[in-house]
Amino acid sequence: RPTVIRTVDALREALAPTRRAGQRIGLVPTMGALHQGHRSLMDRARAECDLVVVSIFVNPRQFDRASDLQAYPRTEEADLQLVADAGADLVFAPATDEVYPAGFGAEVRLRGPLVETLEGAHRGSGHFHGVTTVVSKLFNMCRPDVAYFGRKDAQQALVIAQLVRDLDFGIRIETCPTIRDPDGLALSSRNSRLSPSERQRALTLKQSLDIAAELVAGGTTDPETIIAAATTVLSGVSLEYFALVDPRTLEPVSSIDRPVLAAIAAEVGEVRLIDNLTLLP
Ligand code: PAJ
Repeated sequence: RPTVIRTVDALREALAPTRRAGQRIGLVPTMGALHQGHRSLMDRARAECDLVVVSIFVNPRQFDRASDLQAYPRTEEADLQLVADAGADLVFAPATDEVYPAGFGAEVRLRGPLVETLEGAHRGSGHFHGVTTVVSKLFNMCRPDVAYFGRKDAQQALVIAQLVRDLDFGIRIETCPTIRDPDGLALSSRNSRLSPSERQRALTLKQSLDIAAELVAGGTTDPETIIAAATTVLSGVSLEYFALVDPRTLEPVSSIDRPVLAAIAAEVGEVRLIDNLTLLP
């Protein structure tokens, strides 16, 4: 079993000897309901760091809908087992008022296109303000050398990289590949809320990305043509966006002559899902 820590003071104390010894601390921030996608980040951290901290905190500030926060799966017992299997050293699982005590008044916000487009446009930039606020706090609490994020949330990873640059956190950010079920569905904590029929419909998100990838590989360069073809396969889902964007700036591309990020968001029943794929011409 990993050591479970609930307070910032106890976390600092637990990390002090490692830090004094000049050893490398790796942080894997999560909201729990852990799956093999999270596990892949832990494996990478385990391979690269002397001490691996997994944080589990369902951050109320990044949820744009109260119903989504309420429905977010919480599975701490199973999470601790997964962390133990991964060989991580510490779980930091604070209560909400440890992170946001009474009187809390800070907010860390990025400005600019990275937080305004795609997820920022559809969920509101407040979502990313919530993410940058909690990740800044986690970075200050843990002061890791390296922090690990998943490409499944490609925009979030870019936002965090900018946060670290802009505020000189001095933390290396590693972005790890998306882990999928054998049928292609990107693993997500929210998948547990899908009924069997919704899960079938959710598969069409990845199918649409694959169609776009085939067209781009085959030489199609016009974004509108690709988006039209890719989105026809979507079935029984409510599309929020299907976008072809620059992988670094997330600005829409006008012609595809270099790698492009295809990003999709859709609601399947009550569950909002996102996925993305890098397309190579
Ligand atoms: P959460 O959704 O729990 O995801 C934690 C980390 O796991 C994120 O970096 C995410 O990109 C990564 N991840 C999720 N599914 C993945 C998959 N299928 N393959 C690879 N990596 C995957 O993202 C958050 O939590 C929060 O916003 C957080 C950063 C913890 C701040 O609250």
